[in-house]
Amino acid sequence: MRIDVNMVDTNTTYTMHAGEYYLCIDSSTDNLACAIVQKNQDDSFKLIAQNDHACARQANVELVESVNATLAEAQCSYSDLAGIIVGRGPGSFTGVRIGVACAKGIACGAHLPLLGVSVLDAVAFASWEAGVRGDIYVVQDAMRHEVYPAQYCLSDEGVVRISGAEHVCKVDACIEEIHQAHKDFYVVGNALKKYQDVFVEAGFTCCDNSNIYTVTGKSLAYAYEFAQMQTGDPALVLPIYTRLSDAEEHERIKLGRPVPKTVQTTGCEEVLAGRHLQYRPLSLNDCEQVATLEEKAHKNTHHAPWSAKLFQEELEQTGHIWWVAHDEEKIVGFAGGCLIDDAIEIYDVCVDEAYRRQGIARTLLERVTYDAQMFGKTRVLLEVEDDNKAAQALYTSIGFTQDGVRKDYYGAHHDAYLFSAHLPLVCDTQEDLPRPQASRQEIQQPCQHAPEVQKRIDEAGKLILAIESSCDETAMAIIDEHKNIIANVVSTQIDFHARFGGVVPEIASRKHTEAIVGVYEQVMEQAGAYFGDLHLNPEDLYAVAVTQGPGLVGALVIGIAFAKGLAAAAHTKLIGVNHLEGHLFANLFETPDLEPPFIASLISGGHTMLVHVKDWGSYEVLGQTLDDAVGEAFDKVAKALGLGYPGGPIISRLAEKGNPKAITFPRAMLHSKDYAFSLSGLKTAVITYINQENQAGRPINLPDLAASFEAAVIEVQVKKALRAQEETGVSDFCVGGGVAANPQLRQAYEKAFAKRAVRVTEPPLGACTDNAAMIARVAYYQLEKNNLSDFRMDADPNMSL
Ligand code: KG4
Ligand code: ZN
Repeated sequence: MRIDVNMVDTNTTYTMHAGEYYLCIDSSTDNLACAIVQKNQDDSFKLIAQNDHACARQANVELVESVNATLAEAQCSYSDLAGIIVGRGPGSFTGVRIGVACAKGIACGAHLPLLGVSVLDAVAFASWEAGVRGDIYVVQDAMRHEVYPAQYCLSDEGVVRISGAEHVCKVDACIEEIHQAHKDFYVVGNALKKYQDVFVEAGFTCCDNSNIYTVTGKSLAYAYEFAQMQTGDPALVLPIYTRLSDAEEHERIKLGRPVPKTVQTTGCEEVLAGRHLQYRPLSLNDCEQVATLEEKAHKNTHHAPWSAKLFQEELEQTGHIWWVAHDEEKIVGFAGGCLIDDAIEIYDVCVDEAYRRQGIARTLLERVTYDAQMFGKTRVLLEVEDDNKAAQALYTSIGFTQDGVRKDYYGAHHDAYLFSAHLPLVCDTQEDLPRPQASRQEIQQPCQHAPEVQKRIDEAGKLILAIESSCDETAMAIIDEHKNIIANVVSTQIDFHARFGGVVPEIASRKHTEAIVGVYEQVMEQAGAYFGDLHLNPEDLYAVAVTQGPGLVGALVIGIAFAKGLAAAAHTKLIGVNHLEGHLFANLFETPDLEPPFIASLISGGHTMLVHVKDWGSYEVLGQTLDDAVGEAFDKVAKALGLGYPGGPIISRLAEKGNPKAITFPRAMLHSKDYAFSLSGLKTAVITYINQENQAGRPINLPDLAASFEAAVIEVQVKKALRAQEETGVSDFCVGGGVAANPQLRQAYEKAFAKRAVRVTEPPLGACTDNAAMIARVAYYQLEKNNLSDFRMDADPNMSL
């Protein structure tokens, strides 16, 4: 199939003009491409300056420096650019995300349009530039003995792309694919570095000069010719992955098998009621219910409903994607379709009548098309009956347009309207916090502050924007020179991790990349409102701060790459912040006059430690967990009970109604003389208990189990905290981290320390879990100490205090 470039709607497509300068970057391969090109009158590009170089795994360190050096060489600045062109892959997932996140930061910081291009297209143009002509196959390395293949035809007139959407396949399958095209192909691409022999053996002529197929700045600029539907909106430029995360792939395989019945529980229906309405991919167990719903919904339509057997067969097909919405396992809606060429064709969207008007159909479509997008698809197609006005209104509201009619498709006088949309679907977030989606259609333009607004901004002094992306929250906050948090936004990805019972690192990185521009714009709007304007401009910022570690490396690099791009383009200072220090500083939001020395307990999903804070910036870790973190234990217990993620909040609500003495669980290391903790034994004991009761056929009383588990955690935590305070003689005790939001634990600390006249500080609930306000508070302190970072700053996943 050939993609016809003229199909693209020129009203919304960004056009480059002659004379304009573009910054072109790509970090999807081991070669960092960084150049400034100028568009010529004849649609060719002139290279103004370049800093392409080999850069294995160092892209996050070198990219911004390379950009600055290239600009200097070109004797221009960010404001001289007309836009940025970035490689969207396919390639190294992390590499692509670093390039894309950094480009988003630059685009936001310098008010520039951002354009994304396929790296496969760039390779084709690189070969064309190097003089290659004729039929070529681009094969880029996809690791694990896989490649990203694409077919092109190169002539003196230019490049024609023959292949459809980007895809991934095994090397053998790729060779088969090339053979079937029955042409004498010239094979280029960085997969040849590993598989040249294999391709030669298969009878292909391979390019043996890697310079010919190396992505360059210029080739990226040319590749924009094939980029579909781009408005220049930095939020909408996303990586091309061509596959789901491993966790999702494994999940799909499991879904085709019958699922064992979940644990039988009793106790607290009203607490669990808050968990209704969840989404997950269709599984074998759902097919009967789905078919029943389908039959009900199709009573008044003109086509036959699908049977359970048909849905079961769908599960076995590759490239078929189905999602269900369920309320406590009762299926209330489903949607699905099939991947074809460059699109997903939706077969069915169906919601139980009693559950309409809750946005379920929209969310289902969002999930299904999101998966399609991860597989490299760029469009969604569907048919709807001419008289189904409600459905048509829904589709229009999320970006679909009608582009055809199929006469009498559903029988005489019942036409099918054909609708299509480009991915990602643009979802209206309204009062919702920015979801990890491309969240709006308009790019934030520079805002001319009125004099009284400018005066207020000046009075606020140096403004620091802080970014947090170490785990599953994309968060940003702005602090002023008077230590006021003037804007604070947290976009959580919990919905996307919940069904896995924990954070999936690859999904976290993807979601950060999607959410980051939306969160940035929202925090700038909040700050703007604070000063009485539409939004703040990047030029109003004095510094950009970002969590450097500890955390998930793939998640950290997104915040860091964006922060560096933003800081460089907006000419601000850059500050790297330790996430754990953030949790400590969050106590200042509760007790502004808090002064070291004090003891702090840091308890989160990743950490369990007692810290002696001797001074701000001077910490002694008295002891840590030897195995699981406390939050992790909460999460794993919840997972074993089928309660979803995160486990902490739901277990603590259940525990309120339970008897903490009902079941005796072990208190590991309660009597050890050190400050070490161990939670894996407790976790195992709880899981063993669950299995035992299950096997005996006894339903588990959830509140009692939750309360008893918590009691075991709390007793150890409180006892060691008391001892640390006694030994150091400090008069303040603080907490931090997600588990510090636990009300029973908070009460236990308050009660225990009250007897000793020790002041207990507990941050507000929203400041316990991950947020950027706490990062901003540390950044303020770092700035006072002139503790600045440079553009080589990288993520430090194991950073300690
Ligand atoms: O600090 P945080 O947001 O992220 C990390 O840095 O890990 O902490 C998240 C952890 C999760 O494990 C969650 O289950 C736990 O904090 N958590 C709680 C409560 N709220 C969140 N644990 C116990 N009780 C809670 N109320
Ligand atoms: Zn944390």
